[in-house]
Amino acid sequence: MTLTSLPGHPHFAYRGDELCAERLPLGDLAREHGTPLFVYSKAAMLSALAAYQRGFAGRKAKICYAMKANSSLGILQVFAQAGCGFDIVSGGELERVLAAGGVAGDIIFSGVGKTRAEMRRALEAGIGCFNVESEAELEVLSAVAVAAGKVAPVSIRVNPDVDPKTHPYISTGLKGNKFGVAHGRTLAAYQRAAALPGLKVVGIDCHIGSQITDEAPYLDAMDRIIDLVEAIEAAGIPLHHIDFGGGLGISYNGDKPPAADALWHKLFARLDTRGFGDRQFMIEPGRSLIGNAGVCVTEVLYLKPGEGKNFCIVDAAMNDLPRPAMYQAYHAIVPVKPRPGAPQTCDVVGPVCESGDWIGRDRALAVEPGDFMAVMSAGAYCMSMASNYNTRGRAAEVLVEGDRAWLIRERESAADQMRSERLAS
Ligand code: LLP
Repeated sequence: MTLTSLPGHPHFAYRGDELCAERLPLGDLAREHGTPLFVYSKAAMLSALAAYQRGFAGRKAKICYAMKANSSLGILQVFAQAGCGFDIVSGGELERVLAAGGVAGDIIFSGVGKTRAEMRRALEAGIGCFNVESEAELEVLSAVAVAAGKVAPVSIRVNPDVDPKTHPYISTGLKGNKFGVAHGRTLAAYQRAAALPGLKVVGIDCHIGSQITDEAPYLDAMDRIIDLVEAIEAAGIPLHHIDFGGGLGISYNGDKPPAADALWHKLFARLDTRGFGDRQFMIEPGRSLIGNAGVCVTEVLYLKPGEGKNFCIVDAAMNDLPRPAMYQAYHAIVPVKPRPGAPQTCDVVGPVCESGDWIGRDRALAVEPGDFMAVMSAGAYCMSMASNYNTRGRAAEVLVEGDRAWLIRERESAADQMRSERLAS
């Protein structure tokens, strides 16, 4: 049988004439579980993780999966079993990690708006570190910890003011962003943290943005963080770890981000020069661990020739795949079983009642109603951002390992969606 991998997706290949996840035909999975259906390859997840592990070989580093990228329990379980820690941003994410078998001490808690209740719960669970994002948050966290008879381990998220050259909605390390403590305020914030009774300073962190495809912003941010570490330690406040955030991009449409191992070899070369190569490091990658490990299989419902535009209407929509509508993002769309015939140029759209509900524009496709297509690179920021808009149930999810498949999320029913609602009288 001929095997044709899709470029950038080594674990999704045509075996004969059908696209497979590892060894399982996507059409069989779609017929068994219905569509839209998210399908993840465990081998793709572990190979993305392995690239970071190679980059960190011989170094002290902890990989904390940024679970906002995909927080399904079955996905978290794979990363927990592989020894990852987790970067969380809410109390809900904390409960998910614990339910999936994550170790509390390997959790870091980021986010600009942690509530007192979330802080209390995280302290009680014994998380590894709070990544504090403002001076006001330092005061509240200390008070909450003192009241609970605990000491909160903290790192301050620094806004290094570097341009990651990515989409404005997902760049986070510029002066005008809401994230982190301004570079110029960092030392004062550390001095305050060190003086507060409920806090123990353990680290420093930054995160400059997402879908970064260039190594230069990482090297700049690294230099600026090391300058700060030197200043903070000179002021008598030791820092146990440096957390460098996430943000590494993936290939959606021929993008060429640096490989994780190559990037980290470069960053460590810089750190070695500056005498920091043997520090404890942490990172918070999300998209680069799961983005290209998942696809969304959808069925073609109707072909609708239009004036000046043809539409291919499918059963997945912006509530399942919100990235095109939100960021004008590109996802490759390929037929599961290519058929002969001349491709037609069309917009691939979903059934939701909004013109913004498109999944791909001006795609050349030879498909017929009833065909399955795979929306590629759908592992990150798709299911975790899915909604029930138009009272559409969220899709089912399947995890594939070799020739085995696990249904890790059942399709959501209308009854599931209405369960927590009540009539007024
Ligand atoms: N750490 C922090 C503090 C973050 O805010 C984020 C992402 C990450 C780590 C993980 O970044 P990654 O490695 O996944 O780039 N919904 C958008 C992306 C939003 C990213 C938000 N923060 C999208 O679909 O492109």
